[in-house]
Amino acid sequence: MKILVTGGAGFIGTHTLIELYRAGHTAVVVDNLSNSCHEALRRTAEIIGVDGIPFYECDICDRIRLELLFCDHQFDACIHFAGKKAVGESVEMPWEYYDNNIGGTLTLVDVMRRHGCRNIIFSSSATVYGEPAEMPITEACPKGVCTNPYGWTKSMIEQILADMQRADPQWNVVLLRYFNPVGAHPSGRIGEDPNGTPNNLMPYITQVAVGKRAELGVFGDDYPTPDGTGVRDYIHVVDLAAGHVSALQAIGRGCGLEVYNLGTGHGYSVLDMVKAFERVNGVHVPYAIKPRRAGDVATCYSDPSKALRELGWQARLGIDDMVRDSWNWQRQNPDGFAAD
Ligand code: NAD
Ligand code: UFG
Repeated sequence: MKILVTGGAGFIGTHTLIELYRAGHTAVVVDNLSNSCHEALRRTAEIIGVDGIPFYECDICDRIRLELLFCDHQFDACIHFAGKKAVGESVEMPWEYYDNNIGGTLTLVDVMRRHGCRNIIFSSSATVYGEPAEMPITEACPKGVCTNPYGWTKSMIEQILADMQRADPQWNVVLLRYFNPVGAHPSGRIGEDPNGTPNNLMPYITQVAVGKRAELGVFGDDYPTPDGTGVRDYIHVVDLAAGHVSALQAIGRGCGLEVYNLGTGHGYSVLDMVKAFERVNGVHVPYAIKPRRAGDVATCYSDPSKALRELGWQARLGIDDMVRDSWNWQRQNPDGFAAD
């Protein structure tokens, strides 16, 4: 299939491009590079073994440029990653998040339908479950109250796409709810390159390990979990990327509206992650216990069995692979892509 990948220069987008090409698909990337760079795409093409990946530096809110892009290409489906994703920033700048994430999606899907492309895979998040009623979380678990505007953009976009699919059954919509993506391509050439101070656990750990930050702050050790620290379902980005290729099969057979959790089904605590990182990589990660972070839940992990049953997809890589590949990327690229 020929796939439009919005946000394809980003962390999950670049890894997904590799899996797409590996499975015999082709892709065109649209990205405004607000949180990524040309170098990431250059290295992705290098890993794939192609001269370049067709790329449009364009904002998905820009209807005219999107129209021109759809005049140039006939797409079978769109994998829609483009969006702002920093939880804390979304609390400070809610309008920018609603405008970019929801406004961008509305423009994208309107241009898609005008050009006869009604197949979309959307990057959603476990955050839409809010404070989950049951653990592990299945797709039947009701959506909950989000704790920040970023989360609401995911929840609202899910609603918009589901409503559009119900009104026009020609649409095939797959909502993928990611748990906690970590890791990097095993080559160490591409990986997560956050701007400024990382919000997420794994890039914080790797920046401490490489000496860019003095110590990790562990947000709370008094949760009702085995060691008191927060438990999450970390998933290797290469597994997550492969999940998108599997979701394309569902699109290909006319799935209508589907929702899938993409996680491993295993919960690890913050200290489990720190200890695994130290053990596998032989480096020390100093940490200090800090107060809980507002909006965090104690425990969040998936039941990913629906994706296995219906898509034949399951995560193959474990915690050791995740911490090894995250470190391999950071060690080789202490300043991310900026070094090139
Ligand atoms: P990322 O920031 O690395 O990638 C997103 C890409 O979208 C960036 O390259 C950015 O430049 C681009 N972009 C943003 N707004 C755009 C716009 N208006 N027009 C064109 N391009 C735009 O993030 P990621 O970690 O690769 O995440 C990809 C998607 O998955 C996002 O939608 C994110 O919300 C979602 N998600 C991520 C996580 C996570 O922990 N990484 C978890 C759940 C869901
Ligand atoms: N944590 C720390 N110290 C840090 C960063 C995180 O102790 O410096 C802890 C958190 O308190 C939490 C765990 O590590 O217990 C994971 O935190 P992350 O920020 O890495 O991930 P979250 O589960 O909070 O959120 C992530 C993404 C969201 C997404 C959500 C659910 O950042 O975008 O998963 O998919 F919505």
